[in-house]
Amino acid sequence: MKIDIITIFPKMFTGPFRESIVARAQKKSLVEINIHNLRDWTKDKHKSVDDQPFGGGPGMIMRVDIVDRAVTDISKQFKKKIILLTPQGKPFTQKKAQQLSKLEQIILICGHYEGVDERIRTQIVDEEISIGDYVLSGGELAAMVVTDTVVRLIPGVLGQKDSLKEESFSPATGGLEYPQYTRPAEYKKLLVPKILLSGNHQQIKTWRQKQSLKRTKDKRPDLLATI
Ligand SMILES: C[S@@+](CC[C@H](N)C(=O)[O-])C[C@H]1O[C@@H](n2cnc3c(N)ncnc32)[C@H](O)[C@@H]1O
Repeated sequence: MKIDIITIFPKMFTGPFRESIVARAQKKSLVEINIHNLRDWTKDKHKSVDDQPFGGGPGMIMRVDIVDRAVTDISKQFKKKIILLTPQGKPFTQKKAQQLSKLEQIILICGHYEGVDERIRTQIVDEEISIGDYVLSGGELAAMVVTDTVVRLIPGVLGQKDSLKEESFSPATGGLEYPQYTRPAEYKKLLVPKILLSGNHQQIKTWRQKQSLKRTKDKRPDLLATI
């Protein structure tokens, strides 16, 4: 899979993509992540990518012609999606991440400043994604969130396939994952539930299912409608 990110702040991605699971996935060639500087597609000597809004108002708007040139150059794969990160997009979910992880290429466009020319939204992109009901300074952090979530779903990226099976929002649970414990079995008089030390796998499974449901009811009752 190829993930292409179009940004005016390419250096922001250096740290997060050189660590942990995303870094390992790239090393194993399970994903190719390319960070593109939008300014490479400008034609003026100042390499400007934005301009003032028609009709007046604060801030600068990212230009459609430059984004169009970038996307056209980068679009290579047949099964691809061009995605704009925007607070006005559909909320990003695990289900969406699963769909995206099955594609050959995703192109993520990061807006900045006041936002992007409306024609980018209507003519260039296939989808708009928001990572939450709040406004970031730019789409870069959102692109990192989408990339990280998608990459760990690509087959072979996580060491143990089972880690994906029962985690929160997975198709198996729909809700939240059960509570987890590790050593020590007793800490400041707090004991690990006995059942987890019993070695009885069937009973542990049932206990976990019940805990998962209880947790979802307590913390995220809205998810129960989706189970
Ligand atoms: C300051 S925001 C622009 C907000 C825009 N003026 C509005 O009110 O909808 C600049 C850029 O940050 C990104 N962004 C901000 N919040 C986001 C969110 N919740 N999810 C995804 N991208 C976001 C988008 O790429 C956006 O173009």
